[in-house]
Amino acid sequence: MSDSLMRRKSIVPDQPDGQGLARTLGWPHLIALGVGAIVGTGILTLIGVGADKAGPAVILSFAVAGLICACAALAYAEMATMIPASGSAYTYSYVVIGEIIAWVVGWSLILEYSLVVSAVAVGWSGYAAPLLEAWAGAPMALMQGPELGGIVNLPAIAIIAVVAGLLLVGTRESATLNAFLVLVKVLALAIFVAVALPAFNAANLEPFSPYGFAKHMGPDGVERGVMAAAAIIFFAFYGFDAIATAAEETRNPDRDLKIGIIGSMFVCVVIYIAVAVAAVGAIAYTRFANSPEPLALILRELGSPLAAQYLGVSAVIALPTVILAFFYGQSRIFFTMARDGLLPASLAKLSSRGTPVRITIFTAIVVAILAGFIPLGDLAALANAGTLAAFTAVSVCMLIMRRRAPDAPRTFRTPLPWVVGLGAIGGCIYLFFSLPAQTQFWFLIWNIAGLAVYFLYARRHAVAD
Ligand code: ALA
Repeated sequence: MSDSLMRRKSIVPDQPDGQGLARTLGWPHLIALGVGAIVGTGILTLIGVGADKAGPAVILSFAVAGLICACAALAYAEMATMIPASGSAYTYSYVVIGEIIAWVVGWSLILEYSLVVSAVAVGWSGYAAPLLEAWAGAPMALMQGPELGGIVNLPAIAIIAVVAGLLLVGTRESATLNAFLVLVKVLALAIFVAVALPAFNAANLEPFSPYGFAKHMGPDGVERGVMAAAAIIFFAFYGFDAIATAAEETRNPDRDLKIGIIGSMFVCVVIYIAVAVAAVGAIAYTRFANSPEPLALILRELGSPLAAQYLGVSAVIALPTVILAFFYGQSRIFFTMARDGLLPASLAKLSSRGTPVRITIFTAIVVAILAGFIPLGDLAALANAGTLAAFTAVSVCMLIMRRRAPDAPRTFRTPLPWVVGLGAIGGCIYLFFSLPAQTQFWFLIWNIAGLAVYFLYARRHAVAD
């Protein structure tokens, strides 16, 4: 094996055709799986953070983030059908670009998946806390992090412990339960739109874009603008890679994977724009900006407490599957990197139930501490930084392969590949620089630490062929 930093791995599909798991899923299941992992804290809670940064123009932030994410999803669909192996962006980068880039991407994915778990747990707690207060008299100070005036966010810690426990006993997402929870979530958002849209008042959209387009620092020390909001709202759109992990169980993966990835993105963009228009049109954005449960708050303000309760209960029931999907994804990435020798195999050792126990417990402790004390917006922003790095890499891989192997079989070909690919790369870079400066700093620190691990450990232990 070469000793180059850019050594590449050859493609080794995880499961040869006809072996492994039963092929029972069709494209409707895959769309449900995608929507199940995508719809979560982004639309339910970060819409408030976004409105604070962009005003009513948060609608535009949704459109921009959705468009960039859709371009990346197309590139992703092409790579997922071309390299049907676990590890997603990390594996594509290892095969197409080279080891050190793959390392940075894998390290970014670990950041993404871990912080999504923390962020969605905090979002879950935002909806669970008012119910726990009303039904059990639980004190708010123990259900919110310090930035909202609380001491510690115990429900967020508790839900992470529960999901980690489920993973430890070997729970995987069940397609049937997932489909049910998708219905619960989508129905809650449909009810939201049905209640809020009739209250639409154009005066609430004036002025439409009080903070302008590009990110800039406001007098209060908060970075604002349509792009600053889009960089956070981007969180709401990803999760479609959960679909690629179901490739082995798909009846007709060539056709269904791409329909699943693109279809679930399309469904989410439509739902999100509808919810965003309904939300900012219903009441002044300043009233729900930065609320831990903005959509429920809007419904209450519109005099629909029952709809608000349904929405809260739906979030509480449905969000744990988003946590489960990303928690599982994290251990999967870790496992793949350990299999390649880049991380210690002892950490990724599987229990008799097929769970990497050590990494699951270690991750649970770290993400629970973060969820207990760090604000949602900060967690989501840093998760986005990792995701943007991974999406950029996938789009670069797609374009390189178009040059290097234009005739290699691809069951899905991105339309207008150079427009879409360069659009995804440029868009992801623009979103990255629209993130808070503090987030960019922490991302840099994370990668410096990552490169230290690479040069001190991973490079010497790599077993890629
Ligand atoms: N897209 C997922 C969510 O919004 C991560 O919760």
